Amino acid sequence: MAHPGPRVVVDATLGLGGHANMFVSHMSPESIFVGIDRDRDNLDIARNNLESIQNQSSKIQIELVHSSFSDIDTILDERWIGGIDYILYDLGVSSAHYDDGERGFSIRYDAPLDMRFDRTTWRTARDLVMMASEYELRDLMWRYADEKKSLHIARAIVETRKLKSIDTTFELLEIIRWSSYDKDSPKRVFQALRIAVNTEFEHIEISIKKAIEKLNIGGQIAIISFHSIEDRIVKNLITPYLAGTIDDFTWQTIIPARLAKDNKKPILPTQLEIDRNPRSRSAKLRVLTRIN
Ligand SMILES: C[S@@+](CC[C@H](N)C(=O)[O-])C[C@H]1O[C@@H](n2cnc3c(N)ncnc32)[C@H](O)[C@@H]1O
Repeated sequence: MAHPGPRVVVDATLGLGGHANMFVSHMSPESIFVGIDRDRDNLDIARNNLESIQNQSSKIQIELVHSSFSDIDTILDERWIGGIDYILYDLGVSSAHYDDGERGFSIRYDAPLDMRFDRTTWRTARDLVMMASEYELRDLMWRYADEKKSLHIARAIVETRKLKSIDTTFELLEIIRWSSYDKDSPKRVFQALRIAVNTEFEHIEISIKKAIEKLNIGGQIAIISFHSIEDRIVKNLITPYLAGTIDDFTWQTIIPARLAKDNKKPILPTQLEIDRNPRSRSAKLRVLTRIN
């Protein structure tokens, strides 16, 4: 991302501001940095982390926005920003979410079943566990986490909630354990619930399509995915932009390709990165340039 001259850089998943710090400290004066996060707590931490850098880089306009990246078009329009030169999506959960014993993301802590990135939205993981039908529960575990025991777990949830309310992570864990007999099911079910609560894939689909439209020619979009299902969604989303549109009858290109891959294969973390940050183990980075 080392380019001379003013640029518009968007960090669509600001998190605690790790990548943002790196971006801002390498940006030229008169550039604009936009950081977006759905989680207000993370946004506030990132704001603090960026403050010292902002003092040194006062010629850079920094905009931090509490919103979903699916509103990328409105966020830019409201700030009179016409096009993007670089946008990063570092998808999924931040370490702060897993390490916070109160938010219900982690199987390590007994906490209310919440799992919302944005705590101003209405639906928590408890709402889903208590109200979704057996079919819906089964379907979300299967679709969002490839959970093979989804039928047994969904049935166990529905049977249990006829007798008592399921309010906490540990109550849910107990049900998953006795109904699945699989030590890996808890992680998968928690992943599926988190994706469903936050309608993560819908936001990704909407946002990436909008961001590609907003990319300047020569601008880059970088996407880091963390599990195979997320990666599949990203791959399926970008494939039509790489191939263009071919007429079914004449086999002529009617819409040319709009993106080109910067690397043939996704970039994987080095062993050093994995040693430093074990959560990066499953990460895949795709970088694409807008060519049309
Ligand atoms: C893996 S973390 C990003 C970490 C960040 N790159 C850093 O260096 O600290 C993902 C972040 O994306 C946020 N997020 C998830 N879905 C989002 C969405 N639809 N819109 C905006 N932010 C989202 C989460 O709240 C979380 O803070």
